[in-house]
Amino acid sequence: MSFDDLDIVRTVADLRSRVAYWRAQGLAVAFVPTMGALHQGHLSLIRKGLEVADRVVASVFVNPTQFGPGEDFSRYPRQEATDVELLAGAGCALLFAPAAAEMYPQGFATTVSVAGVSEGLCGAVRPGHFAGVATVVTKLLLQCRPDVALFGEKDYQQLAVIRRLVTDLDISCRVLGVETLREPDGLAMSSRNAYLNAAERAIAPALHRALQEVAAGLVAGAAAEGLCAAATQALLEAGFLSVDYVAVRDAETLAAVAHLERPVRILAAARLGGARLIDNIGVAPP
Ligand code: PAF
Repeated sequence: MSFDDLDIVRTVADLRSRVAYWRAQGLAVAFVPTMGALHQGHLSLIRKGLEVADRVVASVFVNPTQFGPGEDFSRYPRQEATDVELLAGAGCALLFAPAAAEMYPQGFATTVSVAGVSEGLCGAVRPGHFAGVATVVTKLLLQCRPDVALFGEKDYQQLAVIRRLVTDLDISCRVLGVETLREPDGLAMSSRNAYLNAAERAIAPALHRALQEVAAGLVAGAAAEGLCAAATQALLEAGFLSVDYVAVRDAETLAAVAHLERPVRILAAARLGGARLIDNIGVAPP
């Protein structure tokens, strides 16, 4: 597929008419919402979309409502020309890249907030974040009306929040979680890795290693609490500035669990230099 095959639309009306045209032809549409600064992880979502649908639509919108005061909204990397090239190369057919005024016009007053799964973990450290995500994702899904929407498992709590809202609000779209892509040293791919300098980048894979240590301990029968405390200590010793959490949660409900008795997710968030890194892995009873 060549560069010319990717169209860019910036209004909801244009997005809807393109998707309606495909639907009228009986084509299935996949949707990959992003905030841009695309990397191979995002492109794997596009490729997966092409496996499960006939056309893939991506969105690039750095959503202001999911950033708290003092967070990285203003410095979040914006590189539309590069993103367009990457999307075209991966086979994406349409990019929806709205301005903030298209998403949040004058008078906008609605918030979607999801109880339960959005509380705790990142929800506790970033108040309002998941309401911002839930609101923009609800809007994007209703604007695009895809058959399937794809999200990375790297933002595991976000994925749980989105699954919940799609079910609760009867949005007729399948939600597909796609496995995290990693650098050869284990660091999860993330647009925020761009904030790391060379010394910090060398430290960063300790986050994935800490998760693997917790997984190994759980499989050996140790209790989650002690393993998470040891992982927190290991991260601080490796050079992380602070650790927001290392936690073991039920893979579906995100409820706290003490031992490996059913499939769990081990999740962590920690600050390194000017970046806040998150990661998670799954582990099931042997
Ligand atoms: O994961 C992201 O990039 C964002 O949170 C999303 C889902 C595009 C909503 O702004």
